[in-house]
Amino acid sequence: MYEFIIELKNVSKYYGYGLLGISRFAAVDDVSLGISNKPLINVIAGESGSGKTTLAKIILRIVKPDKGQVLFNGKDLWRLNRKDLDEFYKSVQPIFQDPYDSFNPYEKLEIPLLKTAKKFLNGNDKEIIAVVEKALEVVGLSFDMIKGKRKDELSGGQLQRVAIARALIPSPKLLVADEPVSMLDATLRANILNIFKELKDRRGINILYITHDLATAYYIGDYIYIMFRGTIVEHGPIEKVLSEPLHPYTRTLIDALPSYEKRERFIKEPIELKETELKEFLLRGCKYYYRCPYATKKCFEEKPPYIEASPNHYVMCWRYVGSS
Ligand SMILES: Nc1ncnc2c1ncn2[C@@H]1O[C@H](COP(=O)(O)OP(=O)(O)O)[C@@H](O)[C@H]1O
Ligand code: SF4
Ligand SMILES: [Mg+2]
Repeated sequence: MYEFIIELKNVSKYYGYGLLGISRFAAVDDVSLGISNKPLINVIAGESGSGKTTLAKIILRIVKPDKGQVLFNGKDLWRLNRKDLDEFYKSVQPIFQDPYDSFNPYEKLEIPLLKTAKKFLNGNDKEIIAVVEKALEVVGLSFDMIKGKRKDELSGGQLQRVAIARALIPSPKLLVADEPVSMLDATLRANILNIFKELKDRRGINILYITHDLATAYYIGDYIYIMFRGTIVEHGPIEKVLSEPLHPYTRTLIDALPSYEKRERFIKEPIELKETELKEFLLRGCKYYYRCPYATKKCFEEKPPYIEASPNHYVMCWRYVGSS
């Protein structure tokens, strides 16, 4: 088996801005990372407008990067043959932020589940229903509980569980979950997060958990990537990064935790680019320059390199250059 199910090598994605959209900024800027084939919960964390969703879409093959390479089991994701592409669509499944967006309002909920099972698996009707039943059981639901119901008859938490069940039908190896609990209230959140933990521990499924919320990240994550304005500014085992944060941005995120969580809980992320956001995206050197209390001229002029500050704990900041 190849070491990584998904590997990103120097991946960038540019979007246009301004009236004509001719000028471009990198929503994802030279990102490299590897999601191992071993079951782990990798977290990508950062405030709204960091490029997390764009990165998730790149991994899911929804967005094509402008630079760099995305590999699926060692093969270029954009040059897969039919068989490997089918394998990719089975193996890597998305879970989105708002479960209400994931289902058709007019369709009974069992329909998309049965359709998914028929698309990915061979079998007669009885076998197909058995697979759907099994997937629902994993998330604490049953076929009878959802049969004949439409999406607005279920709570947000129940519906997110149905969405996870649907993602489990093809027996995926990796779930890419983009803010999967940010629309849910606190009690339901823990329930969904525990399902992710169990999927990893009992079923060996890899999870990429994308969030703006370090508290939930810490609760389930093994390894964390901190993202700011398109770049991964720090990454490492989650215990280490959150207990000994190195990058000034990571520290701010940790300090701001309780109020940050309250403020962002029910807010959908805006798509338009704010002026300050754009200014940061366009920085040639360190993207944290305008906010950083330690910023120097060099930080403005040159992009910092990654430094391995301690085993497996990396930070992108000039302050650590020469100190490792
Ligand atoms: N399709 C798009 N066209 C233009 N700009 C986009 C598009 N998608 C995202 N952006 C911009 O890219 C930046 C990163 O967005 P996004 O990936 O959604 O970040 P996050 O998920 O961390 O909030 C934001 O400034 C956003 O406005
Ligand atoms: S490189 Fe400079 S501006 Fe960026 S985080 Fe480090 S000290 Fe601050
Ligand atoms: Mg997002």
